[in-house]
Amino acid sequence: MFSFELIKESKECKARLGKIHTNHGDIETPIFMPVGTKATVKAMTPEEMKELEAQIILGNTYHLYLRPGHELIKEAGGLHKFMNWDRPILTDSGGFQVFSLGNLRKIKEEGVEFRSHVDGSKHFLSPEKSMEIQNYLGSDIMMAFDECIPYPASREYVEQSIKRTTRWAKRCKEFHENTENQALFGIVQGGMYEDLRRESAKQITDIDFPGYAIGGLSVGEPRELMCEVMDYTVDLLPKDKPRYLMGVGSPDYLFEAVERGIDMADCVLPTRMARHGAFFTSRGQLTIKNAKYKRDFGPIDENCNCYTCRNYSRAYIRHLFNENEILGARLASIHNLFFLINLMKSIRISIKEDNFMNFKKEFYDNYGY
Ligand code: GUN
Ligand code: ZN
Repeated sequence: MFSFELIKESKECKARLGKIHTNHGDIETPIFMPVGTKATVKAMTPEEMKELEAQIILGNTYHLYLRPGHELIKEAGGLHKFMNWDRPILTDSGGFQVFSLGNLRKIKEEGVEFRSHVDGSKHFLSPEKSMEIQNYLGSDIMMAFDECIPYPASREYVEQSIKRTTRWAKRCKEFHENTENQALFGIVQGGMYEDLRRESAKQITDIDFPGYAIGGLSVGEPRELMCEVMDYTVDLLPKDKPRYLMGVGSPDYLFEAVERGIDMADCVLPTRMARHGAFFTSRGQLTIKNAKYKRDFGPIDENCNCYTCRNYSRAYIRHLFNENEILGARLASIHNLFFLINLMKSIRISIKEDNFMNFKKEFYDNYGY
């Protein structure tokens, strides 16, 4: 049921327009995917997500396995039904989350032994276990179990790690049975080493997946370095499959990724920033707790048409944050998600009209990049 349709390649750069077809509907690319780690996009109802025109959201294997447990979600009829979201869902494999646990985990060939960040209980995640969990969740797109290599990492470490990620990717594909309804994406690693990215891309694409992700970026490296790695890594991926950059969601990173041929990206940034009172605006980032907004009765962003900007002032939202009222986080989440979803929509239009580079320059000038 899963397929990718390449609609247009930009004349100006490597940007492309496409459409992903899934059992739960279509996704226009390039797309930003909001993150709903624990079966909820924090503070948002699915109806609100639809009003924002979110086309796909993410869920996380690691968190849902620990709580409430993938068996319980299967019993509920799968993740879509459990959380009342009937559009596409992508689940990450747990690779990234488990590796972020630091000394709470031990990497072995078989998989990763780790202690829960919640209660310290002992668990084991392997390629097969990750596939089983994602199968129980019933996501439309599932991710191979990989190792997200930290930055910086030695060449020797990265060499060993990408070989293991390839062996794990093969095991994922062999174990994965529900190929009719769930598309399994491979993940390219390789740290910041060009030849190792090449090696990893060759090995992962040789296994043959319906889509490919670039992992191990936006892990603390400078923006120029991330762009450089994207420059050559995207060219190693087949044109007729979707390309997903994992963990990226600031406006500038999205522009840079799309320019280099990325079709999908996800990040907790818009919702996490929102809960801290930080807003994306067309004129740069805004921190609402700043005293200068105390008597500012204008909207967060005069160029934004979201529910928050149409109805509430900076002064009111600042008051909500100062009083720790939960409506503040809700209004901020609505705005930030709208901002990125709408930005991607404008980006798609600009690619269609061969105006992407001009649109990017205009956005950067206004934003202050
Ligand atoms: N999220 C952000 N980066 C990564 C990565 O390298 N691997 C996985 N599985 N998830 C990620
Ligand atoms: Zn707004």
